[in-house]
Amino acid sequence: MFLRLPVVAAVITALSLNPLVQAATTVIPTDSFSSYSNLEKYWNYLYPWGSDHNGSGRMFGSSSDHSHISVSGNVLSLIATPLSNPNPPTSTANPHPAIHYASGAIHAKAQITVTRDNSYTIQGEFSAPTARGTWPAFWLTAVNGWPPEADIGEWKGTNNNWYNTFNTSSVVRSNLVAWPSDLSFHSLKAALTAESNNADVKLDFYMDNQLKATQYGQGFVGKAMWLIINLQMEGSSGSPGPSGTTTYKIRNVQVTRSGS
Ligand SMILES: *[C@@H]1O[C@H](CO)[C@@H](O)[C@H](O)[C@H]1NC(C)=O
Ligand SMILES: *[C@@H]1O[C@H](CO)[C@@H](O)[C@H](O)[C@H]1NC(C)=O
Repeated sequence: MFLRLPVVAAVITALSLNPLVQAATTVIPTDSFSSYSNLEKYWNYLYPWGSDHNGSGRMFGSSSDHSHISVSGNVLSLIATPLSNPNPPTSTANPHPAIHYASGAIHAKAQITVTRDNSYTIQGEFSAPTARGTWPAFWLTAVNGWPPEADIGEWKGTNNNWYNTFNTSSVVRSNLVAWPSDLSFHSLKAALTAESNNADVKLDFYMDNQLKATQYGQGFVGKAMWLIINLQMEGSSGSPGPSGTTTYKIRNVQVTRSGS
């Protein structure tokens, strides 16, 4: 046996010296929805910019208000309820739709910045509503300016998930995958790596561990992005939305970074 030891030592040395063998760092572990304290360790409530966006849902959530965001049994639930206001307020965000729902959103505290040395894998399992007027998402958007934007999960009121990458507001690649309407959990994953030009990012999109689409984000290298999970309503998903409560469930979200 001792004769093999130098071989083992040589292999270990080769691995540790080989720059192609990259360690993976866990940015968000799979148990971030195991408790409110873990949720609040890895995520902030609302959108990075506040409560409103371009749909009719206004987001609520704080350490003392879990009526639209709850965690239980390692599952995050985002809950939209209709508001019955005859004179609804309007969203503070373009195009200022009327607010018809109270709902929930969170965003990761860690920003995602793909570089030559830092690739990311972003994944989770989703029970997503697909009824007209429900607009759940799991997506990346620029910290400074816009784009970058890449949507790993976006359901726009039909039985499809949309994978999208925006080069500009009008230059967008979208690929649709069929999504069951029975609220069963399915996994989505995106692997983001810098292209050899060290400017563009390649995005491989998976559903239930099968590669479904590859898209490229122009100039995404080095641009910080937020990871957001939200249950927006109406907007791109049609209207009117549901008259009852809508729940979007998410579990086993994990973000890993490989490289230095
Ligand atoms: C976005 O830019 C990348 C890099 O130039 C390119 O490969 C991709 O095709 C562009 N997307 C669209 C929709 O044109
Ligand atoms: C809403 O904003 C998102 C990103 O900020 C964008 O991708 C989407 O096209 C917008 N949709 C509408 C209907 O304004």
